[in-house]
Amino acid sequence: MSDPVIERILFNEQQIEQRIRDVAAEISKKYTGRELKLIGVLKGSIFFLTALASELKLPLKIDFLGISSFANKRGAPGMVRIEKDLDDSVEGEDVLLVEDIVDTGFTARYLLQNLAGRGPRSLALCTLLDRTSRRIVQVPVEYRCFEIPDRFVVGFGLDYKQLYRNLKYIAVLNLESGS
Ligand code: IMP
Ligand code: MG
Repeated sequence: MSDPVIERILFNEQQIEQRIRDVAAEISKKYTGRELKLIGVLKGSIFFLTALASELKLPLKIDFLGISSFANKRGAPGMVRIEKDLDDSVEGEDVLLVEDIVDTGFTARYLLQNLAGRGPRSLALCTLLDRTSRRIVQVPVEYRCFEIPDRFVVGFGLDYKQLYRNLKYIAVLNLESGS
């Protein structure tokens, strides 16, 4: 099988920047007068979190958690485990979970439930990409930059086998090309 190829660019650097600026303005307005803690999910969300954070006009704290997703014994997807926990407590804080993509929704639902149990003052979800056509479990997405079609995408933090995260654009990766 040959290497996957970039099939087409969905969102270029300028479009991503502009959209993040708009979403950041929305968030800044919503949390005016408050302090916000962004929680990034390693590693996919770090490019988005950095871009978003630098556009937010709010006192900000940043923390990260790392997860692994796996199938259960019968091969059903959707099991999530925290491999690297947050450094600090979120009790009493306004928390915004920052994701690269919400796909089936399993990851986001698990993380929202887990964080809610730690007593934040408020909790919301912000995602760069949303693929609602593949949703299996419902999750409240308060802020999202782009809805995407049912194709595998890479770039701006999203990977295929840990590669492509550093692309400045978001593109459809053709995993079956030439094979
Ligand atoms: P979930 O299905 O909503 O739990 O999403 C699980 C995770 O799968 C996301 O956080 C991404 O890390 C990864 N993922 C889902 N779709 C894509 C994609 O198109 N490209 C790269 N990673 C993806
Ligand atoms: Mg992810």
